[in-house]
Amino acid sequence: MPFSNTLSYTDSVHCFRSGQPFNTEAVVATTDRTGPGQPVSFSVEERDNALILSRELKPADQVFGMGQSMGGLNKRGRRFSTWCSDDPSHTPEKESLYGSHPFLIVDGEDTFGLFIDYPGEMFFDIGYTQPDLLEIRIPSLDVDLYEFTANDKKAIVRDFRKLIGKPYVPPRWGFGYQQCRWSYPDAQRIDEIVAGFRDNDIPCDTVYMDIDYMVDFKDFSIDEHKFPRFESWVQDKRAQGIRLIPIIDAGVRIEEGYDVYEEGLEKGYFCKDEQGELFRAAVWPGLCAFPDFLKPETRQWWGHQYKTLTDLGIEGFWNDMNEPALFYSPAGLSKAIDTVSAARDKNIGIYEFFGLKDSILNMANSREDYRSFYHEPEPGVRVNHEQVHNLYGTNMTRAAYEGFEQIDPDKRFLMFSRASSVGAHRYGGIWFGDNHSWWEHLKLNMQILPGANFCGFLYSGSDIGGFGANASAELVVRWTQLGVFSPLMRNHAAMGTRDQEPFAFDSHSMSIMREHIKLRYRMIPYLYSEYMKAVDTGDALFYPLAFEYDDDRSRKVEDQLLVGSSLMNAPVYEQNARGRYVFLPEDMLLWKVRHHDATDAQILKKGDHFLELPLEEMPVFIRKGCMLPLTEATSWVDERQPEILEVLVNLDQGACYELIYDDGISQDWQKGIYDSLLLAVNRVDGELIATAEVTRGQVPWSTINFKIYQQNGSVVEKSVLL
Ligand code: GLC
Repeated sequence: MPFSNTLSYTDSVHCFRSGQPFNTEAVVATTDRTGPGQPVSFSVEERDNALILSRELKPADQVFGMGQSMGGLNKRGRRFSTWCSDDPSHTPEKESLYGSHPFLIVDGEDTFGLFIDYPGEMFFDIGYTQPDLLEIRIPSLDVDLYEFTANDKKAIVRDFRKLIGKPYVPPRWGFGYQQCRWSYPDAQRIDEIVAGFRDNDIPCDTVYMDIDYMVDFKDFSIDEHKFPRFESWVQDKRAQGIRLIPIIDAGVRIEEGYDVYEEGLEKGYFCKDEQGELFRAAVWPGLCAFPDFLKPETRQWWGHQYKTLTDLGIEGFWNDMNEPALFYSPAGLSKAIDTVSAARDKNIGIYEFFGLKDSILNMANSREDYRSFYHEPEPGVRVNHEQVHNLYGTNMTRAAYEGFEQIDPDKRFLMFSRASSVGAHRYGGIWFGDNHSWWEHLKLNMQILPGANFCGFLYSGSDIGGFGANASAELVVRWTQLGVFSPLMRNHAAMGTRDQEPFAFDSHSMSIMREHIKLRYRMIPYLYSEYMKAVDTGDALFYPLAFEYDDDRSRKVEDQLLVGSSLMNAPVYEQNARGRYVFLPEDMLLWKVRHHDATDAQILKKGDHFLELPLEEMPVFIRKGCMLPLTEATSWVDERQPEILEVLVNLDQGACYELIYDDGISQDWQKGIYDSLLLAVNRVDGELIATAEVTRGQVPWSTINFKIYQQNGSVVEKSVLL
């Protein structure tokens, strides 16, 4: 089919434009180089006002990506749609989650990538209906298709990321352990939670404030009865090393006299219905108005609202309910009530009964409601919400980000969102939305990480321990172990569920979590350094093994991940499992972490192994020729300047690592200002020489202790003073 325009960004990145797509601003790269006439990796056909992309899947083809989505690392054999959805109980067959990230890589005889820049719903059938067919249906003729033809999966990820711009960088304290719960009712309970961490010697950097801190769930309000002397309380917590992170919801309560609502209404910042009247639907605060985040003036106004809280010492937020979630609209509610009333006193059949039940259940997030309101991205241009649904959360987060730039341009604020689309990674991180205290969701957490990373969501993670349902201590322990590796490490639980802080469980479980949270703090320099490198190179922090090793066995691994350049992770994700099979694509150094500071490790040979992993232990694998730098465990990230850096080395011929560091709080990284510590171990005339050199800026450590594991099993320790 003919395209209205084609562009080449590089020899391996091409854009094929059909019609006049809505400008999602997902892509920030520019070019005026004309591209090839047609994509080479898939065919495109027009059918019933839709575009159908198709491609034969060969037996060995694997499909990676799809961002935040269900399924394993290889997405083949499944169906997906792109529709930001509020669905806490996502069971295995669910086709869309909270984010919409239509980027995939097909890898086999040929390798290529595809990104579809379209803000509404699309349907991906990846060998589900027909095992040998990839078919994508885009219900529009106005769309940009991006094809990536580099014959290497990692190169495709980098090419994609170059197109969509650099990810958000959180403050370094955002790498600390974080505790949340929906239903910390007041400041006193939060004080107890903070004490729970400090008294039990469990590191923690933040405690979250869910909707309970607001007056009637009104954004940017604080209930002064439950949170008296808010500003000085925020300072008190800060003195204890804790930052408080309030939630901000998308829906604005409709209430006369509520300034945010009244101003938004007066200035026309809210979404409107077909007749041009205010669109209303209920969320936590009851009936709400919904800011039209696609409108620049609304974003500017909304971004400014965060100042109410930053002026009181708040340094981070989480944006929620921004798919947007709609519990019901007045129209939807009366329709459901009518359906139910009509059935009164009738002997209804069982199918009618099911229909009745559905009329209540389907009231939330109904397509009819989404179709009933409009955005005005430019004066006089009206766009139905359904066409641009996936951009809502992104633009809420963008509003916050742009607000922070005004509030304090040189400071990094913590910000992550529930809903997102491609491009949102420039403004904040994401958490993977509501999940459950289910082992299946722990495994899913691991398997989502690479796909989310490909789209630039480096700052991401799941609710550790699971949000809905009661968690067992064992589940929270294993989930905490996985969480050690993810940049956003936050334990969160829903109202009405069992308490889920590490100290809410028996003392043995708590002590295991203490060790692994301390391990996390020891690993922050590594994770942060890898994060900053990935921001720069466009790499993912988490790659499936198949992205690094091209042997056939590595391609089959679904439950292990590479974490940055040095590490591999193989979490335990099954109840009562006291071990698991692990595949090593090369000889690796295995550290089974029981105590965060007992760094005894051993070289394990390439191949398949069964590892005994009692609940107390989690495995950390260090790749050949690589290093893992470990700082001192502190009670919070900025508690004190550490002096000693311990470096575990899996020595090949040599080993080296560049540790990137910076002030962790300013935006200097954007100007290319950072510190660098070059660590190396080499064999010179049969002798091991360890060096550590600050090649840029300065680093806090003064003593570098190398623990060098050699392939013959011997361990050598060397110390270098800076
Ligand atoms: C939503 C959020 C969850 C939060 C709850 C109450 O379900 O996803 O994280 O705790 O709302 O605000």
